[in-house]
Amino acid sequence: MLRLALIGITGRMGRVVAECAAAAPDIELVAGLVSPSRDLAETSRVLPRTVRLTHDLSELVSGVDVVIDFSRPEVTADAALAAADSGVAFVSGTTGLRESEFAAIRQAATSIPVVHATNFSIGIAVLLRIVPELARVLASWDCELMERHHRQKRDAPSGTALTLARVVAAARAANTSFVYGRGPGIATRQPGELGIHAIRAGGEIGRHALLFASDEEGIEITHWAQSRRAYAAGALEAARRLVGRSPGLYQFTDLLYEM
Ligand SMILES: NC(=O)c1ccc[n+]([C@@H]2O[C@H](COP(=O)([O-])OP(=O)(O)OC[C@H]3O[C@@H](n4cnc5c(N)ncnc54)[C@H](OP(=O)(O)O)[C@@H]3O)[C@@H](O)[C@H]2O)c1
Repeated sequence: MLRLALIGITGRMGRVVAECAAAAPDIELVAGLVSPSRDLAETSRVLPRTVRLTHDLSELVSGVDVVIDFSRPEVTADAALAAADSGVAFVSGTTGLRESEFAAIRQAATSIPVVHATNFSIGIAVLLRIVPELARVLASWDCELMERHHRQKRDAPSGTALTLARVVAAARAANTSFVYGRGPGIATRQPGELGIHAIRAGGEIGRHALLFASDEEGIEITHWAQSRRAYAAGALEAARRLVGRSPGLYQFTDLLYEM
């Protein structure tokens, strides 16, 4: 049985991870981190009694095999280091991380196995394996990215859009410059640009469209999440595949598709 601690347990993603963990026969949710603004006793009323709730990261990671984190960048950085101190595997899906927060994740990965993915859905994991080939073969075609999310999403553009953009740029020999939105004013497309467009509306869970176009034809690939379970199931699968590995920073796609 995999003993799991969850960060962001009261959030949109955390609640779904908790539901999916409860339905998984091989995973036991044993602990959850609660933000300082919430009362522990109050929060425990809406969660299973068996889940140990705490405000304290070192208490959270004690006696668990793996931590799953869907929270805020500043929490993620501290949590990665706390997991490393306790030798606990760390899975994070939090997006909008700054360089200093990525540095904390890299530091943690020197002593524990870590996976950070901006998108834990199977569809995006597969797309990330296909996109380099498309970007390379269609190197002369224009490329633009559009993403749509619910009105409460904090970061823009989405972590997934940035991941896809970086994968396209890495696959192309010529320099690529990212352009965030266009206009107002003159916004003629320049060679080597990759436009990234963020839309925030309603309850959209997450939609990404990648467009390649020449003067004569185009290809547009769209991925959308029908439910947050798409991400939660992937994060739990990453946890299963991460525990017991050597320290290091692992890619979700590699964990899923390694032979
Ligand atoms: N990788 C993926 O597949 C994927 C998929 C979806 C979302 N995400 C990302 O996951 C993150 C969370 O998304 P969400 O929609 O679940 O957001 P959310 O609903 O705002 O949840 C954020 C969670 O973090 C908690 N939190 C905030 N500050 C905290 C602190 N100082 N200490 C402890 N806990 C704290 C919140 O507690 P309160 O409830 O008390 O505020 C809440 O439980 C975002 O970065 C989002 O972009 C990733």
